[in-house]
Amino acid sequence: MRSSPGFCAALAAYSVVGTAVGQNFTASVTLSLEDYWSLYVGPIEQASINTTVEATPVPTESLIPPPGLYYPPFPTGHEAPLQAKNESWAFPKDFKFGVSSAAYQVEGAAKDEGKGPSIWDVLSHRVPGYITTNETGDIANNQYYLYKQAVTHENKTARKFESLWASEVIVEYRNFKKDIARIAAMGVKVYSFSISWARIFPFGSGQVNEQGLAHYQDVIDTCLEYGVEPAITLFHWDLPLALQNSYGGLLSPKFIPDFLEYARTIFTRFGDKVDHFITFNEPTVVCGFYPLPEGYFKASNIPKQQQPYYCGQNLLIAHSQAYHLAKSLNLTAQITLKLNGGYKIPLTNSTADLEAVQRAWDWNEGLWAKPIFLDGDYPTSVKSYVSKFLPELTAEQKAALNGSADLFAHDAYTSHFYSAPDTGTDACVANSSHPLFPKCVNETWAYPAASGGWALGPAADPLVPWLHKATEWVPALMRYIQDTWKPRGGILVTEFGFAEPFEAQKTLLPDILLDQQRSAYFKGFMEGLLIAIAEGTNVVGALAWSLIDNLEWTSGNSVKFGLQYVNYTTQERYYKASFFHFADVFKKYHEQ
Ligand code: GAL
Repeated sequence: MRSSPGFCAALAAYSVVGTAVGQNFTASVTLSLEDYWSLYVGPIEQASINTTVEATPVPTESLIPPPGLYYPPFPTGHEAPLQAKNESWAFPKDFKFGVSSAAYQVEGAAKDEGKGPSIWDVLSHRVPGYITTNETGDIANNQYYLYKQAVTHENKTARKFESLWASEVIVEYRNFKKDIARIAAMGVKVYSFSISWARIFPFGSGQVNEQGLAHYQDVIDTCLEYGVEPAITLFHWDLPLALQNSYGGLLSPKFIPDFLEYARTIFTRFGDKVDHFITFNEPTVVCGFYPLPEGYFKASNIPKQQQPYYCGQNLLIAHSQAYHLAKSLNLTAQITLKLNGGYKIPLTNSTADLEAVQRAWDWNEGLWAKPIFLDGDYPTSVKSYVSKFLPELTAEQKAALNGSADLFAHDAYTSHFYSAPDTGTDACVANSSHPLFPKCVNETWAYPAASGGWALGPAADPLVPWLHKATEWVPALMRYIQDTWKPRGGILVTEFGFAEPFEAQKTLLPDILLDQQRSAYFKGFMEGLLIAIAEGTNVVGALAWSLIDNLEWTSGNSVKFGLQYVNYTTQERYYKASFFHFADVFKKYHEQ
């Protein structure tokens, strides 16, 4: 195969396994990074802007707030009616008020500057329908190049938006990109983003790609220059493909040393500038990916039903070791991982449903939180299942797990009701063919028929059926986390957000930008946190999902979570009304 001179330093010795007519063969070949891309992913789209451009200021006109939430606008617009401030509520002075994103969802530049392919490059390019819209993250928001830059003047004036709102004025004052400046201009204090592992190690391990490190160095420095604290997630699902291909990724304990080497590189390079490192994003979700679609990655001989738990145990061990590594390197940053889930409400007050609620906590958050925050080991109901096949955690591993997070980071979008399976919990637990096995709980967002069958709260976009505004339950969720897992550094809400119904179908800019339901969600959520804090829960910050519309994994761009709209033709960003409402609650209640 061809060897590209640009990548001659990054070569992977790789075993190809295949079947010739009537016989199996195995051969070792050496692939350049370019060949690796061609073989496993294929052609990659390129954005028209593919160098980093320098910054210009956010125009003040684009900071004009929207009309008030629940009132018609004053004819001249933008006059938010006064709402009485609740004097017993306050966000503490050092509250982490922020926004978040993740590499694969926003960066684009999929193959640039020495990046290797990740499993998401394969899932989007090679697994038809895996992303329902058949989109890819090849270009996404092109944040890899646009993190600090505005659109050029030529672009600004040459282009008009929809005919209805084509006035030069609108075009002039709203069409700016530069993500970090726009974060700062809204008074946001923290930007939580993830690093793409395959930019740092194109093959997951081995040779470091200095260009990737230099990129994130500049992103971090740009954040600091704008007074925005960077909070970094090491792994937000975009596993380097080579690690999946060579040993099955998170299913193998070989993942652990590779993750540690990656963590060491990031901690060593950026540890002096970053106050929060998150090792893993949402283990329940990423390990829930396993088994990955068949036929695109090396097959695993671990039974499908058990794969999430192999993944989970390797992830737990990798997390705990990365935590201790950071401490041994004398990092002052807080280290944790992001769990996810809402408050768990019993569907009825039957004993069976109360037990189902406990199982739901144990199998969702407890699986990670109990070993990390309480005692190094799984909850009893989880352990009685996983001990049938997983190697038992050693005393040393348990000791390393216990206490391996400085604060509780939680993605807390919504809440749900839980009930026991119709067949009863015991019958489910004893039957591995039961559709709810092994968790054995029912989950719903609707009250039972006897209570009227109402939805728990207003629904998000129909393509995000799990999400309803349930912000009334936020104080209970915060209280439960604090009382159960007693995190020493408090609770950082690392993601919360809302997909405005049908937003992707709207075509007129002013209609897109006035996202009233998302505004109500953010206002309600922030007030829920204020109540939690007033009641004595140590909530230390809130990072909204998301800074910007982005590639919503398997839903592509068909649903929108952004506090800013992105015109994907021009890559211009526009603040939505919800960004102002989110920021307003913070401003009103932030202790100076
Ligand atoms: C989270 C995930 C984010 C984002 C969000 C909205 O689970 O970490 O990457 O996709 O959900 O669905």
